[in-house]
Amino acid sequence: MPHHAEHSRGIHIHPSILSADFARLAEELARIRNADAVHVDVMDNHFVPNLTLGLPVVQAIRRATELPLDVHLMIQDADRWAPDYAEAGAESVTFHAEAAGAPIRLARELRSHGAKAGMALKPATAVEPYLDMLEELDLLLLMTVEPGFGGQPFLDVVLPKIRRAREALDGSGVPVALQVDGGVTRDTIMRAAEAGADVFVAGSAVYGAEDPEAAIDELRSAPLR
Ligand code: DX5
Ligand code: ZN
Repeated sequence: MPHHAEHSRGIHIHPSILSADFARLAEELARIRNADAVHVDVMDNHFVPNLTLGLPVVQAIRRATELPLDVHLMIQDADRWAPDYAEAGAESVTFHAEAAGAPIRLARELRSHGAKAGMALKPATAVEPYLDMLEELDLLLLMTVEPGFGGQPFLDVVLPKIRRAREALDGSGVPVALQVDGGVTRDTIMRAAEAGADVFVAGSAVYGAEDPEAAIDELRSAPLR
């Protein structure tokens, strides 16, 4: 019998390959076999001041692992590009609310392509304007760093928003995963889990470790301590 409410929600760990060696992606994917999914950060140097990878690399990753792909699009004009990632076989495709012209239409389009629909909010974007569209989503990502780079410190200022989102989700009863991304470590994961998150992206905490699979297990059990 879990003694914290968050345990009944489960703890899902999605390592971010942003912190992996991009020249050896297949090997790096083989080092996280116990992950719940692999988080793939797509950046276009417009929505964020960094450039990573795009559709051809996501297609190659799809062929190189059996893990589900959790694609996080940090790109402008998400309406135009996001459906291609669903078509490429991503389990979930997450666009930024700040970069979507028609988020409800886009979420429906992603679902129609067979993907889970995710929507992300930057740390300073309020969740309240989006609470009425939760049933259009399978995943809500609350960024706990300013998107663009791995290895930044967790922003505790986002914790109240995580709590408010959790209350809204529990109140409405719609089954939306509540994901946090940025600065997740063995220390900060407890605070995010207590606030109500149930999916945790971790880049440097996994790939910066000597043994990434052990790091995943430690993150998964950290909120239980
Ligand atoms: C940042 C990316 C994150 C990043 C997290 O914009 O969205 O997924 O990889 O890296 P860490 O866990 O090192 O903060
Ligand atoms: Zn990310």
